[in-house]
Amino acid sequence: MVSARVIKAVIPAAGLGTRFLPATKASPKEMLPLVDKPIIQYVVEEAVAAGIREIIIITGRGKRAIEDHFDVSFELEENLRENGKKVLLKEIQAIADLADFCYVRQRHARGLGHAILCARHLIGDEPFAVLLGDDILDAKAPAIRQMMEIYRRFGGPVVGVQAVPRSEVHQYGIIKAEPMEPDLYRITDLVEKPSPQKAPSNLAVIGRYILTPEIFEALEETTPGKNQEIQLTDALRILARKQSMYGKRVEGVRYDAGDKLGFLKATVEFGLKRPDLGESFRRYLKGLAL
Ligand code: UTP
Repeated sequence: MVSARVIKAVIPAAGLGTRFLPATKASPKEMLPLVDKPIIQYVVEEAVAAGIREIIIITGRGKRAIEDHFDVSFELEENLRENGKKVLLKEIQAIADLADFCYVRQRHARGLGHAILCARHLIGDEPFAVLLGDDILDAKAPAIRQMMEIYRRFGGPVVGVQAVPRSEVHQYGIIKAEPMEPDLYRITDLVEKPSPQKAPSNLAVIGRYILTPEIFEALEETTPGKNQEIQLTDALRILARKQSMYGKRVEGVRYDAGDKLGFLKATVEFGLKRPDLGESFRRYLKGLAL
């Protein structure tokens, strides 16, 4: 019997980040800062705010900075202590204390599905959350918590979705689903990047999932596609045929920070919200001859 509590999260962060080259040639895109905090720290903080304490990050070559970021930084901490920078010291120390971190290397970037399969031995027979390391959800209630609530009630996999304009469905995985209650759907199928004419809905899969261990068998059954990549969507399609799967329309604003435009939008919005910068940044933006 699979447990009712979600205590582990997998954060895939081993992708090559080709949409963000050249910045991602030697640096992880997940470490790009939104104002002054790396994207992946926002993602970890969302999981922690939802009560998750065990974080498994899937990394790869060139991603060492992620491990260093969530570790103690002895020299830096000594320096801040000696210089009496107490507030900053506390802030820096708190990062390593956010959760219990564990890292798995994905040797080749063979897709999101393959990245999740790399965590199989650490998950065992438990439900777990997946939060994409470059997707930001700015929400009052942590997006993954909104989905954990659905898992608690129904016990099956939950896929986070948001409505997108029909003209944009070709950029997303889209669910075919029947409404169950406001903001909740039963998923019968998923289609990757359909044309507006062929899309079964305008509900797009965002980078948040609650999965159960059955996903691992489904991922093993999945035939690798282009570049030997194993797609999570294909495994979810297999599962949707076998068991109940839910689509939760998540409240909040989603930014694809792994995309240049998405990153710029998130930077502006987060900058405007900052108590220490917001006012002067707003004044600056208003002064631009747009
Ligand atoms: P993306 O498709 O956004 O990441 O995957 P990518 O492959 O790095 O991006 P582009 O298209 O080349 O720019 C979503 C998340 O899944 C991770 C990525 O690091 C990202 O956080 N991922 C993707 C893996 O961990 N392994 C993979 O093989 C692919």
